[in-house]
This record gives sequence, C-alpha cells and structure tokens, in this order.
Amino acid sequence: MSTPAFFPQDIIIKKRDGGALSKDEIEFFARGVSDGKSFADYQATALLMAIFWRGMTPQETAWLTDAMMRSGDVIDLRDIPGAKVDKHSTGGVGDKVSLILAPLAAACGLKVPMMSGRGLGHTGGTLDKLEAIPGFKVQLTVPEFRAILQKVGAAMIGQTPQIVPADRKLYSLRDVTGTVECIPLICASIMSKKLAEGIDSLVLDVKFGKGAFMKKKEDALALARAMVDVGKAAGKPVWAQLTAMNQPLGRAAGHTTEVIESIECLKDRGPADLMEVTYALTGHMLVLGGVAKDMAEALVKMKAAIAHGSALEKFRQMCIAQGGDARVVDDYKILPAAKKLLSVKAPADAKGFVSEVDALKCGHAIMALGGGRAAVTDKVDHAVGIADLIKIGEPVVPGTLLCTLHINDDAKGARAEALIREAVKFTPTAPTLEPLIQDLLK
Ligand code: URA
Repeated sequence: MSTPAFFPQDIIIKKRDGGALSKDEIEFFARGVSDGKSFADYQATALLMAIFWRGMTPQETAWLTDAMMRSGDVIDLRDIPGAKVDKHSTGGVGDKVSLILAPLAAACGLKVPMMSGRGLGHTGGTLDKLEAIPGFKVQLTVPEFRAILQKVGAAMIGQTPQIVPADRKLYSLRDVTGTVECIPLICASIMSKKLAEGIDSLVLDVKFGKGAFMKKKEDALALARAMVDVGKAAGKPVWAQLTAMNQPLGRAAGHTTEVIESIECLKDRGPADLMEVTYALTGHMLVLGGVAKDMAEALVKMKAAIAHGSALEKFRQMCIAQGGDARVVDDYKILPAAKKLLSVKAPADAKGFVSEVDALKCGHAIMALGGGRAAVTDKVDHAVGIADLIKIGEPVVPGTLLCTLHINDDAKGARAEALIREAVKFTPTAPTLEPLIQDLLK
C-alpha cells in the first residue's frame, strides 16, 4: 500500500494551531471527503471546527472552492451561444426574485443556467416554489438542462448528485456539528456549486437582517467580499448586492402565493420592493453579460421585456420545456389551492403606520401552516401561505387588512395568525424606511 501524501491529523493540527493550509493539503482534504477513504468523517469534522475558529485566508478559501468544485462534474456550456449568467441569493422570506429574473434576463438576451435549492427552516426555496406548478420538473439531467437552456434561454433545476459531491458531504457534516456559520466554508460551499454550473459570470444577492441567514450587515459584507474574491480567483466576474431582509420581499410568501406574485410581476403588476430588487439584480446580470452597457440601458431593456410580454412568454416557454402546465400564466386556479382564506386584520387600538413586519416571524408562520421544511426530507404544503401582506410605512386603522392567510387546517391557521400579529408592529408617526439595496461589491 502506498503512503498517503498527507496524514489528516497533521492537516487538522496545522489549522488548529492557526496555520495556513497549502493547496495540496486542501486538495487532499476535498478529495478525501468525497471518496470517503483518506479523510474519515470524524477527521473532516475536526478540521471543519478548526477552520471555524481559525478561519481561512482568501487564498485558502479560493483553493478550497476550486478543490470542491472539481470533486464532481463541471458543466461545460461553452458551445451554447450567448453569455451564461446566473444569480444566487443567500435566501430570505418571500424572495421569489429567481422566478421573475430568469425569464426576464433570458428575454433580454442572456442564457440563465440556474441550479437552485429547496427551502430549509424559515426560508423558502426556488425549487419548491416551481413545483407548485403542476407537472413542473426540477430534477433534470444535464443534457436536458443544456437543451432547455439553448432553446428557451433559461432553465431552472436542482443540483444533480454529480455536481460538487464534496459539498454534499461537508454540508451534511457541518449541519450537525455547529460549523455552518463560517464565512470561508459558506463561501466555498456556495461558490463551488455556482462555478460548476459553467457560468461566465454571477450576480449574488447577499441578504442581511431578521429574515436572513446573516443577521448583521457586517457579516453579510464579509461573505459578499469573500465570494466576489473567489470569483476573481476563478477568473469569473462576480458582483454582490447587499439587500435588507427585515421584512418579507413583496406581499406574498409561500409557494402558490409566490408563484402568483411572480407571474403578476411579469405582467407588470408587481409590488415596488420586489421589482426594485429584481430590476437591480437582473440589470447587473445584463451589464455583466454584455447585453447592456450600463444600468440605465439595462432598465430600458427590462421594462420593455415586461411591457411587451416577452419576459412572460419566456416564463411560459420554460414551463412547457420543464413539463409544467403553462396555463398557469392565465389561470391561477390550476395551482394548488388552500381550503380556506383567513383575513388577519389590525386590532381595535391600531393607529398610525406599520413600523415592522418581522420576516423571521412571517417565515415561522409559513412553517406553522405546513409550508416549510424543518428537515431536508420533509414534504411542503404548496397551497398554504401568506398573501396581501402589509408593508412597513403603510397606514393602518382598526380593521386594516394585515394579510390573507391561505390555510388548510384551522389550528395551524390560528398559530400562524398569532405569529403574524407578533410580526406586525405599529407606530403613531410615519417611520423612516431603510434602503432595501445597500451596497454593490465588485
Ligand atoms: N448555502 C449553501 O449552499 N452553503 C452554505 O454553507 C450555506 C448556505
């Protein structure tokens, strides 16, 4: 038997004592966890904890990302004409931007190869939302994905098992060993998957606030910086937008309710905050992909694609290509419907303005209704959710509608209503609104 290039314990000790790992050591680690041979789970978790405490230099993070990316298939899209640009959000409540942005960017001339995730905890997932559309298939093979991307210009699918197997293993270990909240590890996890998609460039929406993974803006900034730098090291331009996620984005959260709101946006009837974030992220994609020279030109193109219906048409084509019932565009009744609608109204003493709509509590309300996932294997109820949600700064009097809950069970509805009542707070004077988009890192 040949002697291994390294002993895992030496690598663990080096990091434990604050050293910087070499490229070879990092590659040995990524290979070892993927093949399940040279790095045992208990050694991998020890190293993850050492990284958690000691951190990684930008160079180590770039090497880790690259080694993880190469642990599986890297899709080559070079033969497909056009700029291949994707967007990734770190997640939040009511964040349905991908459903609007992918067809919109495709209508403006980009190719959007989007591999998304499922919801976990209080945050929703793009794949679950798409699956609310009857027949819509998100588990496609790479050849099917490529064919749709070429024909339609946008394809939205789940991660294939062959993409970044090292992350599958490492994430499952991190999830149960208290090592998720670590910037180099999050950065390598997200970026290895995105870079394996075969993209030319990437726009990131890094959320911070009550409903986000990162509660503090400074943490979101550090993560954004790390991901932009890793993109640079890989030779791919990456721009990262920092977006506040204190209240849900738009007026809907859930699955059916978010699909409806997304289609409404494509029909030019979307809520202002959701359109602001969608136009900003899609605009950056158009500039990065070279189909607009600046944001002003991008905005003209995007508004035309919405006004003339070409973005909605792309959504329809994508539905058809992925097996979904495209009649959804014109008939929301074909989406899964909840048994009852429950109007949550402002109490008798409510007066003034809404000062807070706590996104985390709204996310918990969705979970209480059965529309969330506590474990990856849980099934979600697509029909339940929140619609007509009031926004910070809007006026209230007793009886003003705070939201409509789509419910399938009275007891769950009552629990969700209580959470919405905790989430929405009032103030006698108009509050100062915080800017939604706060930074752009390049
Ligand atoms: N999302 C990912 O894909 N990876 C992380 O580590 C955290 C969030």
